[in-house]
Amino acid sequence: MKRIFFFAICAVALCACNNAKDEIPGLKDFIKDDFKIGVAVSPYTLQGEQAEMVKKHFNTMTAENAMKPASIIQPDGSYKWDDADKIVAFAQANGMKMRGHTLVWHGSTPRGYMNDAEGNPLTKEQVMAKHENYIKAVFEHYPKDVIFCWDVVNEALADTPGESIYRTRSPWYQAFDGPEFIEWAFRTARKYAPEGVELIYNDYNLVDPAKLERACTMLKDMLAKGVPIDGVGMQAHWDNSVTEEMIQTAIDRFSALGLDVQITELDLTCFNNYHGPGAAERQQVRQAVHYTKEMADAQAEEYAMIFRTLHKNADKISSVTFWCLTDRTSWLNNFTIRGRLDYPLLFDAQDQPKKAFFAVKDVFTKK
Ligand code: GLA
Repeated sequence: MKRIFFFAICAVALCACNNAKDEIPGLKDFIKDDFKIGVAVSPYTLQGEQAEMVKKHFNTMTAENAMKPASIIQPDGSYKWDDADKIVAFAQANGMKMRGHTLVWHGSTPRGYMNDAEGNPLTKEQVMAKHENYIKAVFEHYPKDVIFCWDVVNEALADTPGESIYRTRSPWYQAFDGPEFIEWAFRTARKYAPEGVELIYNDYNLVDPAKLERACTMLKDMLAKGVPIDGVGMQAHWDNSVTEEMIQTAIDRFSALGLDVQITELDLTCFNNYHGPGAAERQQVRQAVHYTKEMADAQAEEYAMIFRTLHKNADKISSVTFWCLTDRTSWLNNFTIRGRLDYPLLFDAQDQPKKAFFAVKDVFTKK
């Protein structure tokens, strides 16, 4: 009898737990018109239960990888759109919009792209001609009413102060022998982008005071030259060292330049959000760690602070995107330490809402 009772309790608990994700409201239903709310997806996310979650919570998507140049441009120079097309078709079928990501990024430049068939470096003019063809093809390929903005240039700024504010190791910087590729990319994108599509500069660590300064210097300079930049994407791969003041300062600085602000790749690692050279060595936690109650509490508080700040600044922010749907598929698993899982999102590895989800919900629903 006791045993039956025990199993009955377990079944009820399991059931309640399984239902939590079906019983909660959608993020988009309580965030309402504050800003668009999105998620980074692959074609695999858009199947089964996870597809339902995407539809329920979000009104925009970003292709996690499928729209990047190295995913589209094949070794023989042809373009392969299949994965990107699957995501676009899902967006169309479900009345969702997309962020385009990305047109020029050192991290997704196909191998050998800057060289000719013999392996010699292309001239700047040859690179420009080749990539203008690509940018044109991108804008001709996707339906005009689905993608509302494009990350035209991703991560062109240096991480650490040096002689240049730019990432000089980038193959783009090197092919152009300077930062002019940024201006060129925006002007070229404007030439082919459908009217109304916003052109965005996207980068990480923009809440870091020194990097923020570099970003503002670059953006001011480009705006003064009439470069068609409409907004800044703050990637927001954050950790608990990011404060409300840091976020507020960055939002204020960018919107003072007349730019739209978007949060484009939000996640909150339980460890350190180091990027760039030596990232793995600089991690303080090097072994696998379970997600404890203390971690869940701290993360919920940090997410609440982030969304309180974004909510307060809704007039300056047009779009917020999570980088992946659940802790199961986050890019932070195994990054930068192999074998170490991370827990950076609002949904756990079983697709269930975490404490952080309810903390975000309270920001929008509690009076
Ligand atoms: C950067 C890029 C994204 C993605 C993440 C890591 O932030 O902009 O496209 O690759 O790194 O997944």
